[in-house]
Amino acid sequence: MGKREVNAILERYAGAGRDQLIPLLQDVQEVEGYLSEETISTIAAHLNMASSKVYGVATFYNQFRFMPKGKYHVMCCRGTACHVKGSLKVLENLEKQLRIRPGMTTRDRLFSLEVVACMGACGLAPVININGEFYAKATPLKVARILDDLRRKEQSNDEAAA
Ligand code: FES
Repeated sequence: MGKREVNAILERYAGAGRDQLIPLLQDVQEVEGYLSEETISTIAAHLNMASSKVYGVATFYNQFRFMPKGKYHVMCCRGTACHVKGSLKVLENLEKQLRIRPGMTTRDRLFSLEVVACMGACGLAPVININGEFYAKATPLKVARILDDLRRKEQSNDEAAA
């Protein structure tokens, strides 16, 4: 993680109070991709708060993640249009296939999962997005196939590299 980048953000928040915690966490996450334990204690010290308190606030909002993203970052839309078209089943299957909950990353660091509100692609509902690519009209079966394809791709890359 980039300590220098975090310090540069903290400089912008010089003299900030606790009311600035959320924007500060957002800015740091945008740069770092997630909030590490070390980053949380640095932020806590900066705001003169206990790390446990900062962590407690951050976990309350599901926009924050505490693990680095996987090679494939899977975003599942849970906005209204996607919900109506069955995004809950899609999300449940993603969780089952990846054996992680939103905000987490698989042990092999291949996949991470995030739940987002409307991605502005309601016509494609229910939609998932992997590393910037949209997958329209997702179903539990389609999602399982997409993940299998990515796993297979990774396996053949590994074999080619061996
Ligand atoms: S609600 Fe999912 S893209 Fe709009």
